[in-house]
Amino acid sequence: MNTERLKGKSILITGGAGGLGSQIARSVVAQGGNVGILDTNESAIQTLVSELTSLGGRAAGARVDVRDANSVNTAVSELAKSLGSVDVLIAAAGGSLGTPRDLDDISDEDFDLVLDVNVKGTFNCSRAVIPFMKKAGGGSIITFSSIGGRSASPVTGVPYATAKAAILGLTRRLAKEVGEFNIRVNAIAPGLFLTDRLEGMFNEMSKSDQSEVINAIPLGRMPKLQECVDPVLFLASDESSYITGTVLDVNGGRLMPN
Ligand SMILES: NC(=O)c1ccc[n+]([C@@H]2O[C@H](COP(=O)([O-])OP(=O)(O)OC[C@H]3O[C@@H](n4cnc5c(N)ncnc54)[C@H](O)[C@@H]3O)[C@@H](O)[C@H]2O)c1
Repeated sequence: MNTERLKGKSILITGGAGGLGSQIARSVVAQGGNVGILDTNESAIQTLVSELTSLGGRAAGARVDVRDANSVNTAVSELAKSLGSVDVLIAAAGGSLGTPRDLDDISDEDFDLVLDVNVKGTFNCSRAVIPFMKKAGGGSIITFSSIGGRSASPVTGVPYATAKAAILGLTRRLAKEVGEFNIRVNAIAPGLFLTDRLEGMFNEMSKSDQSEVINAIPLGRMPKLQECVDPVLFLASDESSYITGTVLDVNGGRLMPN
């Protein structure tokens, strides 16, 4: 891997202390970039920032709930000051956040939580970074949809499907609005990636259920986390300089939209 690929770029990662976010952060540092972690999990932020710094990276963190626009604005300003600029936003904070899948079990609060963190959080963070990107002469925003927002996945419920589909609309509309400032906005739509949190769930499934999941994937195997990280960093890097308003499906061929 080219260790200079992200040299000098300051990259904010929301949900950066989570399974995919922390793996992205390690790769950013390995490729020469600076990292700002925004997450609600204070102890995980501290552990990760220490790790990244010990690897020789420039890293900082802020405990922030992406649902709160004022806290997001403050955290982004502080991280921009300590890292020097904001060139990339990777908006990974989200998920179904422990809410139930089935309609009869979903409360009003569950629905609000999933919509607010995934959609409003992505909006709040995108809006907060755009002035810094304009000042820097451009930037790249990567939003997190999911195969569950691209199709009627049996794994996740209605709130998650709603939120992850809404993120695609947000991505396209925002890309149209900020293109003139050389700011690109693209979504990534991962299939199932076994972070530490999800690996336990997968391992508890019966062998036949596991085979059913794997048999639905033309590539015939579960992915490594790095196989989501590398496409995200492609969208972050100048290698994708003429790509905006798209969604990149990273699912081993499980879903092949027209
Ligand atoms: N892992 C997968 O298989 C998969 C598949 C498709 C999409 N995704 C999406 O990728 C993103 C990352 O997923 P992951 O598997 O790493 O999840 P994760 O649960 O490991 O990490 C999510 C992180 O977001 C943080 N977070 C939660 N609520 C927050 C809030 N209000 N404000 C700030 N931070 C908050 C959590 O503390 C956690 O560190 C999510 O948007 C998820 O929906 C993941």
